[in-house]
Amino acid sequence: MNKKLYIETYGCQMNVSDTEVIFAILAREGYTRTEEMEQADVILINTCSVRDNAEQRIWGRLEQFGALRKKNEGLVVGIVGCMAERLKDSLLESRKVDLVAGPDTYRSLPAMLRDIRPGAPQIDVRLSRDETYEDITPVRIDRNGVSAFISIMRGCNNVCSYCVVPYTRGAERSRNAHTIVREACDVFHKGYKEVTLLGQNVDSYFWKGPEGDVNFAGLLAMVAEISPELRVRYSTSHPKDISDEVIAVMAAHENICRHIHLPVQSGSDAMLEKMRRRYDRAWYLDRVAKIREAMPDCSITTDIIAGFCGETLQDHQDTLDIMRKVGYDYAFMFQYSERPGTLAARHYPDDIPPAEKTRRLNEIIALQNTLSLESNRRDIGKEWKVLVEGDSRRDPGQLCGRASNNKMCVFDKPKQGAALRPGDYVRVRVLSCTSATLICELI
Ligand code: SAH
Ligand code: SF4
Ligand code: F3S
Repeated sequence: MNKKLYIETYGCQMNVSDTEVIFAILAREGYTRTEEMEQADVILINTCSVRDNAEQRIWGRLEQFGALRKKNEGLVVGIVGCMAERLKDSLLESRKVDLVAGPDTYRSLPAMLRDIRPGAPQIDVRLSRDETYEDITPVRIDRNGVSAFISIMRGCNNVCSYCVVPYTRGAERSRNAHTIVREACDVFHKGYKEVTLLGQNVDSYFWKGPEGDVNFAGLLAMVAEISPELRVRYSTSHPKDISDEVIAVMAAHENICRHIHLPVQSGSDAMLEKMRRRYDRAWYLDRVAKIREAMPDCSITTDIIAGFCGETLQDHQDTLDIMRKVGYDYAFMFQYSERPGTLAARHYPDDIPPAEKTRRLNEIIALQNTLSLESNRRDIGKEWKVLVEGDSRRDPGQLCGRASNNKMCVFDKPKQGAALRPGDYVRVRVLSCTSATLICELI
């Protein structure tokens, strides 16, 4: 059998990592990957439910796949991931899909695909307490061959009141540390130079091994010690859990990148309480101070939600204020979107009018643009190591790559000597910047 499989991926990095697991599972069954959906025998959409607009995009895509299905009767269209988990059977009722598989059921995809018949779609949305896909070697879908995602845990045990993830991904479980280290070694030997360890709350990683327990700090050290040539990143830290031990392990290893994604969500204690984040402003600012004390060159990025239930103008000002105090290098910023079934949806009215949410979000975005530019300006004149990722998108005469602090650097290709390749480390000096990019020269 040679069936062609096309997968589209939405949502977070964990979904990208899951798509790589799905390719691996189906490759064993003889499926080959295609990037042309018109040529596919099976189309899967790996979906996200975190905000309503994420789901609306997927419905739009399903309409488009519907047109292909009309032309090609044998075509199978499946929906997998968080939206499959959230909407379950109701997706089948839409008659737009032949298969619905939740995030913990990818091992049964081959059997489900085999059993699909006209009028007999397949669904499996059971969540698991222990599935981590730890024995599966993902088929990498990145293009640069430099940077790989490694999933270290699944699910989430926090119940942030706005968030659907615990319902779509189930309970938290940590993957066997040895299989993580083996996977990192394996990608390094294949030529990758950077791994990103992924989890919804990496600080609560905890694996009970036969030779002793491994926490996140221990795991980070194990991966960092594979080779000084292998860069290590991770995402996401939870401000309530990021420990001094993790900060110390980072500071002690030059190859653990100087970047922490530390989602604040809001700068108001009242909102943080209602969001059930289980830290307050003072605690958050103390963590930031601790990070800066140990690693003055560490960048800090964040996620912010504008217009959560009952957010007053003062709460909103508190968010702008904490942004200024921390001086974030970058932020992902969203309007609050009520998700059915969450604590917030059940207990608090979604009472900030949409236009006001947008206005607050725009203020947050405008401030972050200024902060990002200021942060980049502070880097002018600095010299540092960059991992080459490939040609710059704008100018084929230039290369791009990231500094340890995750900032994107562009620089002219060398005029003489050997050409640089993705995966090479180079030293650059920062000459100037925009709010998104540092313009550098090779040194
Ligand atoms: N586990 C991570 C984030 C997971 S979701 C953490 O705890 O930080 C990624 C981001 O989406 C969140 O940080 C939050 O800012 C945003 N988000 C989650 N639910 C949302 C909602 N209902 N409306 C708007 N943004 C939301
Ligand atoms: Fe959602 Fe909170 Fe878990 Fe992050 S930590 S995934 S925001 S419930
Ligand atoms: Fe979205 Fe699921 Fe990730 S809801 S953000 S794809 S865990």
